[in-house]
Amino acid sequence: MCGIVGCILKDDDKKVAPILFDCISKLEYRGYDSIGLATYDGNMHIKKDKGKIEEVNNKLDLADMPGNYGIAHVRWATHGDPSKLNAHPQLDEENTIAVVHNGIIENNSEIKANLIAEGHIFKSDTDTEVIPHLIQKYMDEGLDLEHALRKTIDILQGAYAIAAVSSNEPDKIVATRKDSPLIIGISDDAYYLASDSPAILKYANDIIYPEKGEIVILDKNDVVVHDEFDNIVHKEIDTINWTPEMAEKEGYDHFMIKEINEQGTAVRNTLTQKDNIQSIIDDLGHVSRICFVACGTSYHASLTGKYLLESLAGISTDVILASEFKYSAKTLDENTLVVFISQSGETADSLKALDIANETSKTLGIVNVVGSSITRRAQYVIQTQAGPEIGVAATKTYVSQLTAIYLFAALMAKNYDLVDELDKVPDYIDEVLENVGSIKSMSKRYNYAKDFFYLGRGYSYPTALEGALKLKEISYIHGEGYAAGELKHGPLALIDEGIPVVIVIPPGDSHRKTMSNLEEVKSRGARVLAFGADDDEELFNKAPEVFPINRNVSEIIAPLVYIVPLQLLSYYITLEKGFDPDKPRNLAKCVTVE
Ligand code: AGP
Repeated sequence: MCGIVGCILKDDDKKVAPILFDCISKLEYRGYDSIGLATYDGNMHIKKDKGKIEEVNNKLDLADMPGNYGIAHVRWATHGDPSKLNAHPQLDEENTIAVVHNGIIENNSEIKANLIAEGHIFKSDTDTEVIPHLIQKYMDEGLDLEHALRKTIDILQGAYAIAAVSSNEPDKIVATRKDSPLIIGISDDAYYLASDSPAILKYANDIIYPEKGEIVILDKNDVVVHDEFDNIVHKEIDTINWTPEMAEKEGYDHFMIKEINEQGTAVRNTLTQKDNIQSIIDDLGHVSRICFVACGTSYHASLTGKYLLESLAGISTDVILASEFKYSAKTLDENTLVVFISQSGETADSLKALDIANETSKTLGIVNVVGSSITRRAQYVIQTQAGPEIGVAATKTYVSQLTAIYLFAALMAKNYDLVDELDKVPDYIDEVLENVGSIKSMSKRYNYAKDFFYLGRGYSYPTALEGALKLKEISYIHGEGYAAGELKHGPLALIDEGIPVVIVIPPGDSHRKTMSNLEEVKSRGARVLAFGADDDEELFNKAPEVFPINRNVSEIIAPLVYIVPLQLLSYYITLEKGFDPDKPRNLAKCVTVE
């Protein structure tokens, strides 16, 4: 939702602002309607405004601020419009305390009313502003910054990662979290905090993960973590293997197209998890039912998991949207395996569901971000190996999730032929990517459309759903995915002259029936864009537009390959329409609120 960073340099004479600016710029995918920094050099310095990072920086020169420590924020507005006043850092009345916050303070209205009754004057419409006011109140009562923050979070309800500095207690940053991500980075010459690792990869690879309710105190000599009883907690230091280049565009115009092009590698790297997955399966014991829980793209990956596990391993499998999970959790038992699929590992809906599932069942997280909350709370973890994904639209993490799910299902079913077949997927993906020219020209012919339909059957049905989601989230064209056989039960009424219909039609059992659906929409005037095998003569005869995919991509592995041209189509249509595919309006990469 938002991104926060903080940094304290050991060298008093060095300026932190260029580092803070660099770090917070790497979190633009978490929020891009406002940016702000606070630094301290004996005086508190604040620069903030609404607008994209580049726009605000052109106006304010954010890297030019004095002081060797500070905090920064990128905002994705929830409470209060994007505006200079609502941008973070938020301040107390005397501008002595600066706070950056990611999350939502659910009881902010009540706290604010109480503080106003006590004489506090508020300037913004944010939920966050209550935090510096509470800290100020408790510091005025005699508490130090750390204990004022502790007392503050005793009152707060909701989700938060918070960092605060105070000019009454200089040379220190305090931070805490509950249900929003926060990591601490350690290097030889500085300490860092951040919402996500891409922010600090360039500076620090040694990472501490604070738990809910712990207070972290960073000064130039040390990082100290206190638990809720004020005891010092000795935290393990993990090392992140991701490189700074992984979080750069490396010559591509956008992260999204870079990440689409990295999908062969992402699959190849995730296939290395085979032995880990086998040992999880060996350890699981009896599983009579599997229940996938996820949101958005991760939900679509889960749907493919249902088809695989039911047809290959014969295990009854459900797929539940994480936000709906609490309404159906009552049927879980100790023989149910609840699988959480998540790129970020921080999605609030999924985390809530995980807490419920942990009470009754075995839980497994399939997660991309190392050290994220799901990886720490699930009983078993499969780490997808996509590397950092910055584009808001998930691409390489989707095929990585699918790869992990395929391995899991194939190993559960002891279907080693399928395990072997997965090795060919990276090459099939690379073949699709080489044919990008035909997708570019397709995008020029279809960017006029207001609505798109995506049809697929069986394994290709989730691909249709994911193709439609990719289109709508970045191009703002209405895209609807349907099981092809469902069309005649209602949506066919919407098919009209010229409406584009994407048909996912790999060779296999569902081919004949999907071909009938193709005829159905074509005879009603739809413009069919088919994605099928390169030797499918019938398809070439019947569909006016066919994107050919290697004939050896079987129906069962098609989801791993056929999604790639659909991602490319969305990307190039979005460019045709003049939108930024990396920063779709109203969306953020990591949804840490319910
Ligand atoms: C995908 O393009 C979206 N950005 C979104 O649907 C995403 O998949 C969803 O919010 C779930 O996120 P997660 O995988 O990090 O849990």
